[in-house]
Amino acid sequence: MMIVPASARYGAAIETLLDDVFGSDRHGRTAYRLRDGVRAVEGLSFVALNAAGELVGSIQLWPIELATETGVHALTLLGPVAVAKSLQGTGIGAALMETAIAAADAMGRSAIVLIGDAEYYGRFGFSAEATGDWVVPGPVERHRLLARGVEENTAGTLRPAKALSAVRATTPAQKGSRRAVAPAAA
Ligand SMILES: CC(C)(COP(=O)(O)OP(=O)(O)OC[C@H]1O[C@@H](n2cnc3c(N)ncnc32)[C@H](O)[C@@H]1OP(=O)(O)O)[C@@H](O)C(=O)NCCC(=O)NCCS
Repeated sequence: MMIVPASARYGAAIETLLDDVFGSDRHGRTAYRLRDGVRAVEGLSFVALNAAGELVGSIQLWPIELATETGVHALTLLGPVAVAKSLQGTGIGAALMETAIAAADAMGRSAIVLIGDAEYYGRFGFSAEATGDWVVPGPVERHRLLARGVEENTAGTLRPAKALSAVRATTPAQKGSRRAVAPAAA
């Protein structure tokens, strides 16, 4: 098994894997609404390939933001993470998580959000401690709205970072003008 950056050539195989793991009705989930209309962050999506070069796992990260009373804060949404059913429990998910998180950290995107089981994602530093006052665009079980690299529970609304993409595309000088949400020390 090896992990490589996801490229367009894996697009169809990723969709097939996600349909298989989550069901073809997955697009209505709240996590999908959070990334509606935005592209995955370049350089932060990875696939796992088996020895035959077949896709057996996938992870994607997306630009989102938290709109609060004091401003708009850049965050990154992690997910979906999926591993082929026949290979679940063999460490591929952990390898994908560690690869993507390290790449996000290196890119200065340490504040990461996901919707998932704390029993699994806790081992990668995720918890619901800082997300209790976040409004999300759809139903979510509060204990499954997890974040890492976010120190404070600041009330706000999570949404796709469409405006951020537009700012970057049109006025590069403003790049970086948005603050991250109180990043944790390390
Ligand atoms: C969740 C998932 C990505 C984990 O990847 P994986 O390669 O199967 O898991 P790993 O081999 O890295 O880790 C296995 C460990 O995680 C635990 N685990 C896996 N899914 C878990 C879950 N939902 N809740 C709690 N623990 C979980 C296993 O019990 C095992 O525990 P152990 O290390 O104590 O034995 C994968 O199982 C999967 O695709 N599941 C279905 C889709 C899904 O739920 N995706 C996440 C939501 S975005």
